[in-house]
Amino acid sequence: MNSEGLIELLNRLLEAELMAVEYYRIHADAIVEPEIAEGVRAILPAEQAHAASLAARIKKLGGVPVSPGGTASAQGKEMGETSRREGTMAMLTLELAQEQQAIKDYAACVADIEEDMLTLEMLEEQLFDEMRHAKWLKQRIIDLTRT
Ligand SMILES: [Fe+2]
Ligand SMILES: [Fe+2]
Repeated sequence: MNSEGLIELLNRLLEAELMAVEYYRIHADAIVEPEIAEGVRAILPAEQAHAASLAARIKKLGGVPVSPGGTASAQGKEMGETSRREGTMAMLTLELAQEQQAIKDYAACVADIEEDMLTLEMLEEQLFDEMRHAKWLKQRIIDLTRT
C-alpha cells in the first residue's frame, strides 16, 4: 500500500471516530440507566483519543485529516439523535453495530500494512479498544434483554 492509499484509509477510520464522538456524547446524556450511561460516558474519551491519534498520524504522513464539524460529525449527530428517540436498546444496538464495523475496518488495515510499523502499532491498540467496547456493549444488551 502506498502512502496515499494509507492516508485515504486512515481518513475513513477517522470519519468513523468523529461520528462515534457525536453519538456517544448524545447517548451519554440520554441513557436513563445510570450504570449504562456512565459506561457509555467512559467510552467517549477513548474515541476522542482515537480521532486525535489518527489525525496526527495522517498529518505526519503528509496528508490532510478530515476535520471535526464536517460531514462525518453531522452524520454522527444525526445517528445519535435518531437512536436516542428510540431508547436505550436502540442506542446500544447502534453503538455495537458501529464498534463491530470499526473492528473489521481496523483489522483490515492492520492486515494490509506491511512497512509502516508506527501506524500499524497505533491501529493495533485502537483495534483492541474497539474490541473491548464491543464486548462491554454486548454484555449490556444481554443484561437488558433479560430484565
Ligand atoms: Fe474508536
Ligand atoms: Fe469504540
